[in-house]
Amino acid sequence: MPSPRANASTLINLFAKYDLSVKDLVALSGSHSIGNGRCFSIVFRLYNQSGTGRPDPTIEPKYRQKLDKLCPLGGDGNVTGDLDFTPHIFDNQYFKDLVNGRGFLNSDETLYTYWKTREYVKRYSEDEEEFFKDFVEGMIKMGDLQSGRPGEIRKNCRVVNGGQPVAVVRERKVLSNYYM
Ligand code: HEM
Repeated sequence: MPSPRANASTLINLFAKYDLSVKDLVALSGSHSIGNGRCFSIVFRLYNQSGTGRPDPTIEPKYRQKLDKLCPLGGDGNVTGDLDFTPHIFDNQYFKDLVNGRGFLNSDETLYTYWKTREYVKRYSEDEEEFFKDFVEGMIKMGDLQSGRPGEIRKNCRVVNGGQPVAVVRERKVLSNYYM
């Protein structure tokens, strides 16, 4: 998994190594239409973006207040937040959120702030069908990648099979146990 701190230009280069295009990068990032991320993955952008000691200025202020409350400085890094406004529905809300400065991860919001990826984000925010079509293409390309090592189908999509149990906490309530 690439770093949540990564910027769009780094992600473009990383995906290019696997023959995945800029369009694939943006469409596949749309999988963040579902699921959660940990405070651990975003505290740097809330309190010390790029070593400035300041928050990421691209975060919409009301959303930042919400994230500050969820992930206070020195708080529990395992608390999780929604990756988009409709985390249980696979839709193009993720892209609408990015346009509004409400991306959870730095690697999400950067897709809107960087000029090479911005047009795709805008287009998908306006045209859900196009997002679905490009997502399917990207998933097929990604699924065809060969690592040279045997893969596995995970019993729990969050963790490799046979890992150690870790408590998943959501807004300070333990929801379940999983393996990582
Ligand atoms: C573009 C580069 C990507 C980066 C930097 C990235 C990074 C991350 C991070 C940091 C999290 C949250 C993990 C945590 O805080 O514990 C996450 C969650 C997730 N990612 Fe990505 N990811 C990327 C691409 C993808 C792709 C290509 C897919 C699948 C096609 C994907 C599917 C998911 C899903 C479904 C979740 C939610 C998991 C859950 O709720 O447990 N991501 N990603």
